[in-house]
Amino acid sequence: MHVLLSFAASLDGFLDDASPNRLLLSNPADFDRVDAVRAECDAILVGAGTVRADDPRLLVRSAERRAARVARGLPPSPLRVVLGGAGGIDPGAAVLTVPGAETVVIEGRPEPRAVLAELERRGVRRLMVEGGSAVLAAFLAADLVDEIQLASAPFLIGDAVAPRAFGLPGAAVFPQSPSRRMILAESRALGDVQYSRYLVRRGHSDEELLRLTVELSRSCPPVLRAYSVGAIIAAPDGTVLSTGYSREPLYGLGDPSANHAEEVAIAKLGHDDPRLRTATIYSSLEPCSPRASRPVSCSDHILAAGIPRVVLAWREPALLAVCDGAERLRAAGVEVVEPEGFAAAVGEVNRVVLSQD
Ligand SMILES: NC(=O)c1ccc[n+]([C@@H]2O[C@H](COP(=O)([O-])OP(=O)(O)OC[C@H]3O[C@@H](n4cnc5c(N)ncnc54)[C@H](OP(=O)(O)O)[C@@H]3O)[C@@H](O)[C@H]2O)c1
Ligand SMILES: [Zn+2]
Repeated sequence: MHVLLSFAASLDGFLDDASPNRLLLSNPADFDRVDAVRAECDAILVGAGTVRADDPRLLVRSAERRAARVARGLPPSPLRVVLGGAGGIDPGAAVLTVPGAETVVIEGRPEPRAVLAELERRGVRRLMVEGGSAVLAAFLAADLVDEIQLASAPFLIGDAVAPRAFGLPGAAVFPQSPSRRMILAESRALGDVQYSRYLVRRGHSDEELLRLTVELSRSCPPVLRAYSVGAIIAAPDGTVLSTGYSREPLYGLGDPSANHAEEVAIAKLGHDDPRLRTATIYSSLEPCSPRASRPVSCSDHILAAGIPRVVLAWREPALLAVCDGAERLRAAGVEVVEPEGFAAAVGEVNRVVLSQD
């Protein structure tokens, strides 16, 4: 199961102030981003403390997004999951009384691992954990988190008794330490809020890095007639050197609406970076061959940079263009590896493009 933590924090890392009133850390643009992420998940989980403090409804707000879910055969909003704790929650709580999604309250203080097992039995494949402090810390300490989405609010709280984003300092040991740097997959300003998306890596096998490129492709601004692709460049020891995703804005690379994942990842290092000569580039889609829309294709960028090894998740279907990138790269002496088992995930991210005729 993919576990995504999502929260907003003050610049000094607090989830709330110590007052009983609900504090708005985020802004409308970021709330809308969170709504889109909710719509892509199978379940949204919070702890009893959040229900007691904020009484959230945990529904997809946008009618359009709800309709799109229903068209895919899903319920309009994801399953709502509450970890009830010793104290339980008020029977009048909005998650129990406001209609729009099914709610499961898991009683007591279950281990996060047991929670995931229970949700897996219910068919949950993508879980969004929205807080609060104790629950975020519990999932991180158990090393069950694949992704962190953080909205930083432009103010400080500076109150030692306010809830911190990851529980009390010193109360938990997190495996996401400096020795396991996460991948900064995306970062952008939404009005006065800075949004950052981090991917947690669990190793450096080809499969793990390819899985991460598929996750990275979820950062692509969606458009109707172009694929969403992620690319990661890694050193032989698995160190991530660069990342890119389709339509990622990059200073100096021209109109971002046409940017390709691989060319962005290479451009961040520059073709002359000597580390490219021993690196592997992972891509969720076959690197493109020459086509009218791009002056230089991604396969040509890979050859020009001297990257000796390419691992790809999926061959491009002959839908938007006929691609022979993998063949061209092999013919030029590049090792091209195509592990199995990623087509469904790439297809899911690109379902809108693929459903067009
Ligand atoms: N800024 C944001 O994005 C955001 C998001 C969510 C929440 N918040 C804020 O966070 C604060 C609430 O945080 P919180 O730490 O008090 O509450 P929490 O993390 O939502 O819930 C913690 C409670 O859940 C129960 N629980 C059950 N299983 C657990 C487990 N395995 N690990 C930990 N807890 C478990 C416990 O209840 P018992 O004590 O009854 O056993 C525990 O006290 C509020 O101020 C809220 O506004 C902010
Ligand atoms: Zn390309």
